[in-house]
Amino acid sequence: MDINKPRYIPMSRRRRIYEGKAKILYEGPEPGTLIQHFKDDATAFNAKKHEVIEGKGVLNNRISEYLFQRLNEIGVPTHFIRRLNMREQLIREVEIIPLEVVVRNVAAGSLATRLGIDEGTQLPRSIIEFYYKSDKLGDPMVSEEHITAFGWATPQEIDDVMALAIRVNDFLCGLFLGVGIRLVDFKMECGRLWENDMMRIVVSDEISPDSCRLWDIKSNDKLDKDRFRRDLGGLIEAYTDVARRLGIMSENERPQGTGPVLVKG
Ligand code: TMP
Repeated sequence: MDINKPRYIPMSRRRRIYEGKAKILYEGPEPGTLIQHFKDDATAFNAKKHEVIEGKGVLNNRISEYLFQRLNEIGVPTHFIRRLNMREQLIREVEIIPLEVVVRNVAAGSLATRLGIDEGTQLPRSIIEFYYKSDKLGDPMVSEEHITAFGWATPQEIDDVMALAIRVNDFLCGLFLGVGIRLVDFKMECGRLWENDMMRIVVSDEISPDSCRLWDIKSNDKLDKDRFRRDLGGLIEAYTDVARRLGIMSENERPQGTGPVLVKG
């Protein structure tokens, strides 16, 4: 099969591999690929809170595309191949390591609550935490001891994941700072990518305002999913602001993605 001419698979005949809270994975056009579809669903507190926010999926698809492309360019390996349309991207199929890797630069959210630190306090250094991906258990925090004892990842893989997390954090901190945004914390996921008999760990899933805390550097305004978690409103406006600052969306582009887009020649 010619890899440069992807087979067109009508939406209705695509095989759905997995449906999560905010995304769906479909079988891809070539072996070893998948299509990642971004939904408009917003959930929090292990889906106890749920809403459909029109346009969120389109914004996350674009923002995550942009960030993964930048990471690919600097040699941080990711699962991202290319964006296909307003809601979908082509990705490499990986074996997901069942961990949410959280990197924190500033105290906020569960860390602020757990340790009684005021939100907004700069941490003495970046802190990496691991959470076991399990909806049933509500993603409990785990240590390297749990990860290796239960075989979720080997000590070498944990080292690789931590090295990736630090590179991603350093790069994203600088990138966001350049557009007046403080990267307070973020969550990333990693997967094992098999190429013949070789395996390497790559950044997977998404990096978007759904999975980061992004504060305006001057006003500390929240430009992320805390707007939904904390009932602050204005989520689409905030995500659009992030996209515009990154130069992804032009002033008058609308995020809905339901109609045709005028291509200006
Ligand atoms: P936390 O402070 O609630 O533990 O969240 C830390 C970071 O991880 C924050 O940027 C939001 C992100 N996150 C997710 O992406 N998914 C989740 O399920 C949770 C709880 C947090």
